[in-house]
Amino acid sequence: MDVQPYLEQHKQRFVEELFGWLRIPSVSADPKFRDDVFEAAEYVRMRLEEAGAEQCRLIPTEGFPIVYAEKTVGPELPTVLVYGHYDVQPADPYDLWHSPPFEPQVRDGKIYARGACDDKGQTYMHVKALELMTKTGQLPCNVKFMIEGEEEIGSVHLESFLQENKQLLQADVVLVSDTAMIGLDCPSITIGLRGLCYFEVEVTGPNRDLHSGTYGGAVANPIQVLARMITALKDENQHITIPGFYDDVIEYTAEQRAEMARRPFDLEAYKKELGIEEVEGEAGFSTIERTTIRPTLECNGIWGGYTGAGAKTVLPSRAFAKISCRLVANQQPEKIAELFAKHFVSLAPKSVKVQVRLLSAGRGVIVPTDSLAYRAAAMAIERTFGKKPIPTMEGGSIPVVASFEKILGLKTALMGFGLDTDALHSPNENFGLANFFKGIETIPFFYHYFTQLSQQNGR
Ligand code: BES
Ligand code: MN
Ligand code: MN
Repeated sequence: MDVQPYLEQHKQRFVEELFGWLRIPSVSADPKFRDDVFEAAEYVRMRLEEAGAEQCRLIPTEGFPIVYAEKTVGPELPTVLVYGHYDVQPADPYDLWHSPPFEPQVRDGKIYARGACDDKGQTYMHVKALELMTKTGQLPCNVKFMIEGEEEIGSVHLESFLQENKQLLQADVVLVSDTAMIGLDCPSITIGLRGLCYFEVEVTGPNRDLHSGTYGGAVANPIQVLARMITALKDENQHITIPGFYDDVIEYTAEQRAEMARRPFDLEAYKKELGIEEVEGEAGFSTIERTTIRPTLECNGIWGGYTGAGAKTVLPSRAFAKISCRLVANQQPEKIAELFAKHFVSLAPKSVKVQVRLLSAGRGVIVPTDSLAYRAAAMAIERTFGKKPIPTMEGGSIPVVASFEKILGLKTALMGFGLDTDALHSPNENFGLANFFKGIETIPFFYHYFTQLSQQNGR
C-alpha cells in the first residue's frame, strides 16, 4: 500500500470538499433544518459517486434517508461496511462560537465548525480513503457505505432498516470513525461504549398557573417538587438510588482496574481545560472509571414557570426535565427504563402528578481485543502511527453498534481519530487537520490488514 503521494497531492481539495459539507446545517433535531438534512445526504452521495463507489443512492426511511454506496472488487473477498452519520447536533448557543458554526474555518491547524469531527469530518475521511484506494488501484476488498441522518436523535429508524436490509448490508465487519483517541502521539482504539436511556419527565401541580401571592405557600410548586425528586435520585456518595439500578453492572477486578489506570490521563489538565476547581462523581472511582465502567444519571435540562424578562409572580402549573442514564455493557435499557419510571413516580408527593416518557434507548458495547475487527484496526494504527494503540473504553454512545451485532451478527471496529478536546456537541467544535489526514492515511491499511487476517482465517 502506498497512500502518501495521492494524499499529499489532493489534501487541499479534500478539506475544501469537507467544508462544502460542513456549510450545510444538517441539524436532525430541529425541524427548521429539515431541507438541509436532506441536502447533506445528497452532498455525500455525490461525493461517494465521484470517489468511485457504485449504487450510490438515498434510501428513504420514515425519517431522514440512509446514504448507501458500494464497491465490489471480487466475491471471494471480504466486505467492510462503513458506518457514519451526516446529521449534526444543534449549534446553540451561537454567541459562544468564535466563528459561525456553519462557516468552517481553519485556525491553529484545526477545522472549526459544527460537525467538523462529529461526524462529518470523520465520515469524510472514509470517503476520501475510498477515493484514494479506487484511483490508485489499491482497494483490497469490497466495501459498503451506510451513512445515516438520525444518529444525534437516537437512530430512530435504523433498527428496522437493518432488519429489512440484511441482504443488502451483508458484510464481514463494520468500520466506524465516530469516537476519539487519546492523542496523535498516543493512539488508542475504542473497545467500549456506554448505553443510554433518555427520559422526559413532567410534574403537574394545580390545573393552571396561579398568582403566587394568593396561592403561594398552600399549593405544591411543581418546579420545586421536581427539583427535590431529581436531587433524590443520587445520595451523598453520588450513588444512584433507583432500586436495582446496579444489579447488572459488571464489577472489575483490582487487576483490571490497575490495567485501566495505566492509560495516560492528566487530571490537572482535565480540570483546567474545563475551568473547574474540582471534579465530582461516584465515590470510590477514578475520573476515567466514572466515565467508562460506571453508569450515570444526569439532568440534561429543566424548565417551567416564567423565564422571560423582568419579574412575574407566578406559581406554575407544570415543570419538566430531561434526564438520561448512561449504561454499561451488561445493563439492559428496557429494564432500566422500567426501574427508573417506577422509582421516579414513587418519589412524587400526593400534591402533584408525574409522567415519565422514554425518548430513546440503546445498549452499550464491548469490542473484544481478539476480534478480527480490533486486530485489523490495531495493525493499521501501528503501521501509520508507529506505535501500538491502547484499547480504551469511552463514555459516549453509538446505539447502532449493538444493533450491528444483534441483527447483522457483525463486530465493529471503533477506529476514531477525534480527541476528547474537540468540543463535540459544544460551541467551537473542531477537528485537527492532522487528525483528518492521519485518518485518511490509516483507513486503507485497515482494509488491507482485515483482508489479510480474513484470508488467513480461511474465509
Ligand atoms: N460520536 C458520538 C458518540 C461518542 C462521542 C462516542 C464521544 C465516543 C466518544 C455520537 O454522535 C453521539 O453523540 N451519540 C449520542 C447518542 C445519543 C444521541 C443516542 C451520545 O452519546 O449522546
Ligand atoms: Mn457521532
Ligand atoms: Mn454526537
